[in-house]
Amino acid sequence: MKCRKCGSKAHVNMRQHKLALCREHYLEWVPEQTERFIKKYGMFTRDEKVLVAVSGGKDSLSLWDILVRLGYQADGLYIGLGIDGGIGYSHESQRLTEKFANEHDLKLHIVDIEKEYGQSIPVLSEMTHRGKGKPCSVCGLTKRHEMNRIARDLGYDVLATGHNLDDEAAVLFGNTLTWTSEYLLRQGPVLPSTEGLARKVKPLCRFYEREMTAYCLARGIEYIYEECPFAEGSTSIYYKELLNQLENVRPGAKLIFYLKFLEARRRGDLFVEQNEAQAHLHSCPKCRQPTSAPGLCSFCRLMEKTQQLDTVS
Ligand code: AMP
Ligand code: FES
Ligand code: ZN
Ligand code: ZN
Repeated sequence: MKCRKCGSKAHVNMRQHKLALCREHYLEWVPEQTERFIKKYGMFTRDEKVLVAVSGGKDSLSLWDILVRLGYQADGLYIGLGIDGGIGYSHESQRLTEKFANEHDLKLHIVDIEKEYGQSIPVLSEMTHRGKGKPCSVCGLTKRHEMNRIARDLGYDVLATGHNLDDEAAVLFGNTLTWTSEYLLRQGPVLPSTEGLARKVKPLCRFYEREMTAYCLARGIEYIYEECPFAEGSTSIYYKELLNQLENVRPGAKLIFYLKFLEARRRGDLFVEQNEAQAHLHSCPKCRQPTSAPGLCSFCRLMEKTQQLDTVS
């Protein structure tokens, strides 16, 4: 396989785009495409301050690298979850994130959940009996809450995450199986800012996961290979496998699934109750983030529960 641009040996072959590129041209192509998506979806401009949520994985490290290469004002945020799983998962992902920040002389904010809220994610999860013995739901809720909080408190205009096409297609697939309209209507490359919350964007949403692996390899970015130890056997991994089987037979199917959804959503003809779903949000009396729960938001309720348990024991 040869590079389409220069004819030398290809580093990556993207069947879905009928495009093979050498290392050098691939390293040009990825930021060019990212820039195109940032503009197309109106994600942010070079005057805005971007906070990149960095987990130490290939996607978010690539994202940070690409945005900096493109000349955007991008700082990092790492959230220490206190997950060990026998592989020192959080410890190692923090080390690699800090290493990247140091090597590129970038600003990285670090929030440690245990220091901030008294307990690590697995302990908080056990204390609240949420999520059938797995901490993923408490973890997801906490990460979203902390990203919003830091972005707001430190005055960032935009919060960027490393979600790739495989992530987005798997979430879309899950929400489509149940036709959960509130989720479907909110899923997209950009979630506009509301009531003091930063805009949320996913600049990598059109890149396949393997394209980000190839990017890290080509750039020499060291990232954590292991998935979160709690992710094993999760529904989202199962959906990703299913979609990969489809993709193997029909290259590009994943991308079309996602892009056709975005088109339908943009036309506004997916669901009639579009405006109603948005109208149900109100501001949490404690943290002031928008929520659809009555009274306190789910995160603040979770924290109240852990504090009550603390005083009992
Ligand atoms: P995940 O939910 O683990 O698939 O991660 C999706 C995105 O959330 C990543 O690409 C990151 O942008 C962000 N993220 C996940 N974990 C962390 C973390 N511990 N600290 C900061 N950002 C994170
Ligand atoms: Fe949060 Fe796995 S439980 S990353
Ligand atoms: Zn080339
Ligand atoms: Zn709250």
